[in-house]
This record gives sequence, C-alpha cells and structure tokens, in this order.
Amino acid sequence: MLNELIEKRYSPYSFSDRQIEKETIYKLFDAARFSPSSYNEQPWRFIVAPKSNEETYNNILETLVDVNREWAKQVSVLILTISQNEFSKNGKKNYHSEYDLGQFVAYLTLKAIEQDIYVHQMAGFSREKAVELFKIPEGYTPVTVIALGYKNENDEDKIKQRKELNEIVFENFFGK
Ligand SMILES: Cc1cc2nc3c(=O)[nH]c(=O)nc-3n(C[C@H](O)[C@H](O)[C@H](O)COP(=O)(O)O)c2cc1C
Repeated sequence: MLNELIEKRYSPYSFSDRQIEKETIYKLFDAARFSPSSYNEQPWRFIVAPKSNEETYNNILETLVDVNREWAKQVSVLILTISQNEFSKNGKKNYHSEYDLGQFVAYLTLKAIEQDIYVHQMAGFSREKAVELFKIPEGYTPVTVIALGYKNENDEDKIKQRKELNEIVFENFFGK
C-alpha cells in the first residue's frame, strides 16, 4: 500500500482546474504534524493559500522565479514553508530545522497522494521577497514554496531517474 503511493508520486507540471476542499487541506496538515522532529521542536510553519484567497495566492506567486510561476499559477493551493532557526527553550541554533520541515512535507506529500493530490516543491523563489511580503520575523527562514493540486488527466507520469543504491548506501567507509 505504502509502496504503491511512493511509486505513484511524482512532481507534475500540469494540474487540473479542480480545487482542493479546505477541509481536505486541513486534514493533510493535521496528519503531517505527527511527523518527528529534533527535540520535538516542530520548527515548521506554513502560509497556506488556496486559489480563493487571491491576495495571499498572488503574493506567493510573486516570490517565484519566472519558470516556476509559469506552471505554478494554475495550481489549487500554494504554500510557503518556513523553518524556525532556533530552539524555543534555549535559543540555540537548531541545525536540523530544515531537515524536520522536509520530513513534515514528506508526510504531507504521502498523505496527499493517497487522495490523488500531487505536491510539487520548489526551491526557485525569492526568500527576501517572501520575508518582506509575509512579514516573516527574525529567527525564521522561508525554505520552499510548494504547489498542491489534482493533476491534469493528460499529464503523463514522469519516468524517475534515480541513483543506484550502491551509489548512496555504504557498508564500510564513505564510498565503499
Ligand atoms: C527542495 C526541492 C526543491 C525543488 N525545486 C524545484 C523548482 O524550483 N522547480 C521545479 O520545477 N521543481 C523543483 N523540485 C522538484 C524536483 O525537480 C523533483 O522532485 C525531482 O526532479 C524528482 O522528480 P519527481 O519528484 O517527479 O520524482 C524541487 C524538489 C525539492 C524536493
């Protein structure tokens, strides 16, 4: 079951006009918040914009590099992901906050694909613009923008090229 979801998932460039219900968006986040994080800090924050929230949606679009904006402007929901840089309890740098945020998004992605909703993550956006437009305070870093939507029926599943296991998993020393 989980394997099927992993195999089904990919990052589409073409999405359908069908909008994701607010309740469905809520459920995706509600499930993903049970992902693990260093010291259970949960250093993830999100600005979530369904297309119906025109102002926020357009502001997120505005942060994107042109090539991403071109395809992302059709998606049902845009999300700006933000990490908290320091631990709340002692102010020390949390070196794993972006790692934890990525894990949250991985959970959300699998929960979404279970319902035929596809996630396409983007690094191609302006952090500076995001900070300015969304009044993000010091101590927080915008990390990605993610697009969420039902995919276009005609969109062909992309063939995934992946490194071989022996290129990434070692037994003795790095590389061996
Ligand atoms: C952190 C991150 C940043 C990414 N940034 C972009 C991006 O700016 N634009 C884009 O089109 N795809 C982006 N992608 C999608 C990747 O290119 C894609 O996941 C990868 O090629 C593997 O393809 P698949 O997701 O279809 O399996 C990003 C993915 C991740 C995880």
